[in-house]
Amino acid sequence: MALPDKVKVVEVGPRDGLQNEKETIPAEVKIALVDRLSAAGFVNIEAASFVSPKWVPQMATSTEVMAGITRKPGVVYSVLTPNMKGFEAALAARADEVVIFASASEAFSQKNINCSIAESIARFAEVAAAAKAHNLRLRGSISCAFGCPYQGEVSPDSVADVVRQLRALGCDEIDIADTIGVGTPRHVQSVMTRAAQEFDIAGLSGHFHDTYGQALANIYASLEVGIRIFHSSVAGLGGCPYAKGATGNVASEDVLYMMRGLGIETGIDLDAVVDAGQFIAQHLGRKAVSRAGNALAAKRSAT
Ligand code: HMG
Ligand code: MG
Repeated sequence: MALPDKVKVVEVGPRDGLQNEKETIPAEVKIALVDRLSAAGFVNIEAASFVSPKWVPQMATSTEVMAGITRKPGVVYSVLTPNMKGFEAALAARADEVVIFASASEAFSQKNINCSIAESIARFAEVAAAAKAHNLRLRGSISCAFGCPYQGEVSPDSVADVVRQLRALGCDEIDIADTIGVGTPRHVQSVMTRAAQEFDIAGLSGHFHDTYGQALANIYASLEVGIRIFHSSVAGLGGCPYAKGATGNVASEDVLYMMRGLGIETGIDLDAVVDAGQFIAQHLGRKAVSRAGNALAAKRSAT
């Protein structure tokens, strides 16, 4: 299949990226990061998460973050909502899109959201209906689509089962997520192709963590089978608190550099994303986990 002229890159750094940080990051820093990312041209930013603060303390400032950002017209600000309590908070915070997050692995579902896959879908039905009633966009995310830290292998059919159930809830978009970064290109192509039998491929996205260094290869492999939406995290931030050892999402700078080289339009200013990556890395007191971001920043300071 020919590569596309254009893709959508969804920035998930402010949520997936920061959720696992141990030190509390002030809301002003998160707000500044989101605003830098919208200014850089991302049209979809996962900005916050309305989950239990006991489970994910770093996201406890989500209401403040959503209230403090400068909304850029046309940008979709997404938030995670595991239940109606999260949905009510998302609604009050004027989120544009709510994300219900399920798993293709029973074991991970229990660890991450404390219920079975079937129970989670039942809980999401109410959230989905409320999202539709309020004209909010609805996205479904499927964790552990390529492997699980607790149960190991996950079959393409179990991913397809969850895709079907999320479609039935009315999701506008569905993420196929490699939570622990274990997928490799051919495996990714087989799961994506199987998922596309259940949901319009134009609405399927690839959410890759780079734990095993496979994320860019997996994105390229996904492009080859028709996936046109990818998630990434500025400075390669991230990790899931309930997936031990899982490292960050693929770095936005690396994805944008590759897309530029392939002549695929994203509408995003790579230089501005490099700046945002250096900004947050400086705040966290460590180097960005983006090869392209660090190389471009070094090149700048050398000239
Ligand atoms: P539970 O303990 O079974 O829920 O947790 P509960 O209903 O019994 O509530 C327990 C307490 O949490 C109560 O407070 C509730 O009020 C409160 P208490 O009475 O004890 O003081 N609570 C809430 N507070 C704020 N907002 C809420 C909320 N809900 C309940 N929405 C629950 C179930 C789902 C809430 C919990 O397991 C949870 O919050 N899990 C979230 C885990 C999480 O955020 N994981 C990371 C995101 S997923 C991810 O990163 C993967 C992804 O990137 C894709 C990929 O890479 O795979 C998306
Ligand atoms: Mg993730």
